[in-house]
Amino acid sequence: MLTKNHPRRQVIKQTSMSIFETIISRRSIGKMTSQPPTRQEIERLLEAATHAPNHHKVEPWKFFVLAGDARQQLGIVMAESLTQRLAESPLPSEKQDALINKERTKLMRSPVVIAVVAEPPRQAHVLAIENIEATAAATQNMLLVAEEMGLACMWRTGDAAYDPRVKEWLQLDPDDHIVAFVYVGYPAIPRLERRPVPYDEKTTWLGWVE
Ligand SMILES: Cc1cc2nc3c(=O)[nH]c(=O)nc-3n(C[C@H](O)[C@H](O)[C@H](O)COP(=O)(O)O)c2cc1C
Repeated sequence: MLTKNHPRRQVIKQTSMSIFETIISRRSIGKMTSQPPTRQEIERLLEAATHAPNHHKVEPWKFFVLAGDARQQLGIVMAESLTQRLAESPLPSEKQDALINKERTKLMRSPVVIAVVAEPPRQAHVLAIENIEATAAATQNMLLVAEEMGLACMWRTGDAAYDPRVKEWLQLDPDDHIVAFVYVGYPAIPRLERRPVPYDEKTTWLGWVE
């Protein structure tokens, strides 16, 4: 863990935004430059992830930081898998080739991709869904800290996240769950504005007295 006065802290860019400001300004940014974040920056995201709430303190997450060739290697596995799936319900060959090529290269869209994985319960009282929920919270922590540091992030899943061959390549158990591929880099485009549905359309107040 990086302590307050650790020298590596000094190289990490931070804004003075409040947590609330960081949350409402965060947006997914899908296009990134090829400049890789530093190891310290990635470690800061991972550190933030491990502070997520989790039931029974099982800390059910694990992380795979994919950079350089590792993205290409996993891309080949993903493309082989898609090829197999398409063999069962083929498309016109031109379309099929384009889809397979996209699958092979998609991890190259950012210089670093972090696979965030939820482990299955190891004890009877732990629920699988809660491990996934906690790992999703860990993922959101990463996105928020990335926002604070001026990094671009995109949480992606897609078929690859649920693909047994992808899990095998990462040496995961079949019951492990890939919650996110977090694409990380520096923004190449401005963020897209998004206005969420206002909370009052989603909220029921019960027993509230002014
Ligand atoms: C569980 C999960 C899976 C997602 N998978 C994808 C994905 O496969 N591809 C993608 O473009 N975005 C994916 N997203 C990102 C959403 O598209 C994005 O968060 C949404 O459009 C809202 O935009 P914002 O993040 O900029 O607020 C995913 C988000 C979550 C939470």
